[in-house]
Order: sequence, then C-alpha cells, then structure tokens
Amino acid sequence: MNLGTPWPAGAVRHDDGEVSFAGVRVGALAAQHGTPAYVLDEADLRARARRYREAFEEAFAEIGTSVEVFYAGKAFLSVAVARWVHEEGLRVDTATAGELAVALRAGVPGAAIGLHGNNKSDAEIRTALEAGVGRIIVDSLVEVDRVAALAAEAGVVAPVMVRVTTGVHAGGHEHISTAHEDQKFGLSLAGEDSPALRALRAVVARPELRLVGIHSHIGSQILDPHAYELAAERVLALRARLHAEAGVLVEEVDLGGGFGVAYLPGEAELDATEVARAQARTVAAVCERLATPVPRVSIEPGRAVVGPTTATLYTVGTVKPVELEDGRVRTYVSVDGGMSDNLRPALYGAAYHAEIVSRRSTAEPVLARVVGKHCESGDIVVHECELPGDVRAGDLLAVAVTGAYGRSMASNYNLVPRPPVVAVREGTSRVLVRRETLEDLLALDEG
Ligand code: LLP
Repeated sequence: MNLGTPWPAGAVRHDDGEVSFAGVRVGALAAQHGTPAYVLDEADLRARARRYREAFEEAFAEIGTSVEVFYAGKAFLSVAVARWVHEEGLRVDTATAGELAVALRAGVPGAAIGLHGNNKSDAEIRTALEAGVGRIIVDSLVEVDRVAALAAEAGVVAPVMVRVTTGVHAGGHEHISTAHEDQKFGLSLAGEDSPALRALRAVVARPELRLVGIHSHIGSQILDPHAYELAAERVLALRARLHAEAGVLVEEVDLGGGFGVAYLPGEAELDATEVARAQARTVAAVCERLATPVPRVSIEPGRAVVGPTTATLYTVGTVKPVELEDGRVRTYVSVDGGMSDNLRPALYGAAYHAEIVSRRSTAEPVLARVVGKHCESGDIVVHECELPGDVRAGDLLAVAVTGAYGRSMASNYNLVPRPPVVAVREGTSRVLVRRETLEDLLALDEG
C-alpha cells in the first residue's frame, strides 16, 4: 500500500508490515547504510522539479512570456541533486561559495546559476564572475559598488538583479519570512526615493554592470497561492517607475521561492498549478494597468522540490514513559540522531510525522515524543505523534519530509557525525553524500 502524503511518492508498506522507499526495504537500507540516514527518492525529486517547471511554463505562456525555475540549493544541494534538477530543465540558485562550488562541480553551466547573499565575500563574487553566472543578486547599495569594482578587475560586465523588500510578510515563522522591513535582506521599496530605486539607478549608471532584473522573495513555507500577488504588484510598479523615469525597462522579475509543502498527514501542499496561475494573472493584470510590457519571470523553489522527497531513517533506542502533570503519560522515544540532523523542530517548533517502518504493530497507539541523543531537553525530533504502544529498541522509525533544510542545516553538535544522504531509485540505493566519520571530525582538530 502506498503510504501517501507526507511520505515520498515511492513509499510503500508491504503486507508483512515493512516499508520500502522506491523499492528498497528499510531493513536493507539500515543494514547497508546504517542509521540515521536521509533517504531521498530520486524519481519523486525529478517529478517535483518537472511539475514546477511545467506548471509555471504553462501559466506564463498563457500571458505571453517565459519563466525560468531556479532550484534554491540552500534547501539541499549535492552534486547529483544539482545535476538532476538541471537535467529536468531547472537552473540553480546558490547563496554561498560552497553551494556555487557544488553546482559547478555538477556541470551546471555558469549561465544557469544565480548567486544570492546579503554579505557576499569578494572571493565569492570573483568566483561567480569567473564562472560567468547568469546573475548576481545584489542586496545592498554598497554591494552595487563592490560588484562593479570586482567586475572591472575581472574585465567583465556583471549581470545583476536588485533584491527588493516589498513589505509583504508571508510564510511559516518569523525567522523565515524575509520581506518585512525590520530584517537584513534586500532594499526597501518604502518612500519616494526608496533604497530599491536608488540601487536600480546606481546599477544602470555603472558600465561594469548589466541590470537583468528585480528580485523579491517574501518568505518560506507559504501555503496561500495569493501571497505573492501584492509583492508582484509592488515589484512591477517599481519596474514601471524606472521605465518612466529613466527609460530602462527591466527584462526580468524574480518572484522568489517559499512554496509550502505538507508536513503532516491530511495537510495539503501549495498547488504548483494554482500558484503559477495566480502569479501569471497578477503579472498580466498589473502590467496592463501600468501599460508596461510583461517581463520574463523567474522563481526559486527549494523546499517544494526536495522537502517531501526525503525521509530520515532512525533506529529506536531508549523508550521511557513519563507521567505528565495532568496525569497523562507521554512516551519518550529516543532515536540515534536528533537536533543535529533536523534542527527545525527545535528552531521553529516545526511539526513532523513519524512512523515505525520496520514492522506493523497491532498494539494500541500511545502519545509519543520522538527525541534525539543530544545533551539538551529541546532536542526534539517530533513534538507529538502517535506510535504503537509496543515501540521498542531496535525498531526503525522514519520521519517524513526532511529533505529541505534537514541535511543542509545539520550540525556536529556533541560531535555527532552527520548522516549520509542515500538516494533510492527502482529498487536500488546509492550514497549521494557519505556519512561523516569520527576520523572526519578528528581531522579538523589541530590538537
Ligand atoms: N530564494 C531565496 C532568496 C531564499 O532566501 C530562499 C529561502 C528560497 C529562494 C527558497 O525558499 P523555499 O522555496 O525553500 O521556501 N531554514 C528555513 C527556511 C529558510 C529559507 C531561506 N531562504 C526552514 O527550515 O524552514
């Protein structure tokens, strides 16, 4: 039986009760790769990348323009993943030298890569220019001058986008919504002579820079298809103003990422077709009202491409019933990982779904909390879920939707080596990123 949402598309529970991912049983995965391990369903990732590209291409073709989908590598990037999304027709958005290096190692052409960052180093900008990236998204007025100087030094003209903050506040948690005023990203649209407008004028005035677009990213884990409309409207108004005032028509508008996914059974993810149509309708209507031609559009999904493709496989260790003040009992189920492989529950209070995947149980479900092996009580993997009352050491437990910001935000807290990312496809598994070893950790220690 296919497990359905929120599990990867190829997750099946067999008659004997064991689960397989893309045809590989969890017992075999644990035996071959150990636990914890992130298990990534390649076909699901490719299908999601395609779904986003096709939904947006179709919606924007309707309004007579084109769209590019940039996979936001911060959600999770490895050489294979960069190659796969590129094969599926996506480009790659990077935010650091590390992400840029992985995309380049994967053979993604520089022209199909973007570089973000609110505090890019000179070295990062130089590497991006050398690689011939398709766009550097500038995030501040000082960066306009820095990129121009480095472009002059390299003897190239740098393609730049200007990141603006539209004042639209959307998404799941304060730390991940990015376009309200009091935060570090982008240039504000507020005021008659806004920082955003000044940055655009500054870019236009520099012969070392080529203005390729205006960029807006409003937040993450957005579930309302209309959330992007106000931001698009404000970006397009800015574009029209620059056109009227300086005769410069910006060719491209990037509406950012943030497309939300379902983390729990019964939740619905943001529908790619619906949000693509909502964005396209807004862009067409606003451009008509402003009497400016429709721009090319780009978007930057990260979570929506990789999040649901991956589950983390853990082995259950200590199981401890704890009596609560109200008389209920909460069963604390400790696993062999924790906040070092998934920081999101501790950092954002994010909710996850877990199941025992190595067997079926007929025991009555109990109120459970899945916790890790780290030295603090906030080390929670799943705040609250139901697990069978006979959950015990040695069971394999999987947590769904850990593909985005799981491995990419993993740490070595308590000097725990980070788990591998194992791709599964058509009954076979292969390691994309190997497990860290104690030797890896000791190798950094100069003694
Ligand atoms: N574009 C830009 C400029 C971004 O800053 C981000 C995410 C994205 C695209 C991709 O957003 P997505 O489609 O993945 O939502 N660590 C947080 C999420 C931080 C998002 C940072 N920027 C989390 O675990 O929820």
